[in-house]
Amino acid sequence: MTLHCHKLGAGLPPILRSETADLLARRGALLLDWVAHHGSPLNLVWPEALQENLAALREVLIEHGVEHAIYYGAKVNKSPGLVQAALDAGGGIDVSSLYELRDARRLGAGGTRLVATGPAKTKAFHQELVACNALISVDSPEELEDLISCLPAAMDAQPILLRLQPESQGKSRFGMKAEAIVRCLARIAGEGRLRFDGLHFHLGGYRWQDRVAALKEAAGLIAEARNMGLSPRMIDIGGGLPIQYVDHQQYRAHLAAQTPDDYRTGKIPASFYPYGGPLSAADWLRRLLRAQFQEGQTVARYFKRQRLILGMEPGRALADQAAITAFRITRVKALGGDTHVIFVEGSSFSACETWFASEFLVDPILIPGGRQPSASSPIRAYLAGHSCLDDDVLSNRWLTFPVAPQAGDLLVHANTAGYQMDLLENEFHRHPMPTRLRMLRDAEGRLMLAPDTIEEV
Ligand SMILES: Cc1ncc(COP(=O)(O)O)c(C=O)c1O
Repeated sequence: MTLHCHKLGAGLPPILRSETADLLARRGALLLDWVAHHGSPLNLVWPEALQENLAALREVLIEHGVEHAIYYGAKVNKSPGLVQAALDAGGGIDVSSLYELRDARRLGAGGTRLVATGPAKTKAFHQELVACNALISVDSPEELEDLISCLPAAMDAQPILLRLQPESQGKSRFGMKAEAIVRCLARIAGEGRLRFDGLHFHLGGYRWQDRVAALKEAAGLIAEARNMGLSPRMIDIGGGLPIQYVDHQQYRAHLAAQTPDDYRTGKIPASFYPYGGPLSAADWLRRLLRAQFQEGQTVARYFKRQRLILGMEPGRALADQAAITAFRITRVKALGGDTHVIFVEGSSFSACETWFASEFLVDPILIPGGRQPSASSPIRAYLAGHSCLDDDVLSNRWLTFPVAPQAGDLLVHANTAGYQMDLLENEFHRHPMPTRLRMLRDAEGRLMLAPDTIEEV
């Protein structure tokens, strides 16, 4: 049995893929067994969800006749199973560290399937990228010099993008203003060991309109590069495609109804991820491609006419619906009145929005631990981890449970693959790292668990 918990009348039940919904609604006993066996919290990963997300984005690009390169932003989750799924589906990988690069290479990624982003690449990272001729997004004139200094005398030309800092991101430490890009172009034109492949940007926020504005700046620089005799072939628009965690109308209703009293802190956090935005990632991309660009042409038409590849590195959007995290309840402690704190085995390092002064505005799902649900009055509770840190809180939001949870029940956070489940995980108090398992099906279609380690994928 599955009980959603919520502020009565303004709930935020997660949107669930059918496989996940089935597991939570009908196979609670199985999930309880898995947590008993593998520990709490338990992260379950569905690699095929990533492939479905990738296919949905591809479909939009194909529908608009735009040549494309989709790189999965591997930073979003530590699962090698998700990286493998992206590679198996013909996608590329965006690596932001030497270690992400090595894992992607071990999983079979050749250089042409890789783009390296990030502002502070080390010499060792540059060297290994150069060794496999991976595409490198250069963040600054300083990085360009560092990269040139580590190029061997004889080699295939090293492909690079230059990362633009669009005008809307004037205070960002990432990328270069247009003048610096032009200086880099001149430097590249005089360096035969480099191949200029185009421009890159990644913006904060989730508005497709901001990407159109940045593309206009990039288009001017692409024209300038061509005038200088260079042959750019790509503009990479970064990530930032949205996920819909909850229904849009329910989300709006929740935001409109929430008050400071809904939080044990007495304060509504200043910002939230747009958990119930109006657009799916595919619709977002459709809007972007159909947006008016220049001289009456759409963005899609611009890419086609200029024979440019549209690159992108979605992290979160490709990981949509690709994992859940199950926490076992240790204790339900009364705090006075109808309020309680629910302690879970695990910590807010595995459900980490509160560390960013925000909240995961998605209701957890209660899986009773085998007992028959008894008649009880609803209780309000916030969720805390098992550490001695006062800030170790998974939800500052008061959650209303129609039936009081008990020790041994599970609380499941859905859709945790994108920056939720393992961004901050660690071994504080010597607790072992949470287990992550892949959900697969055997030849007869039965659910099967498989390790999600680089050795086993
Ligand atoms: C350069 C770059 N590309 C892509 C991404 C992925 O962004 P998202 O997960 O929002 O799609 C990030 C995230 O920080 C990034 O820094």
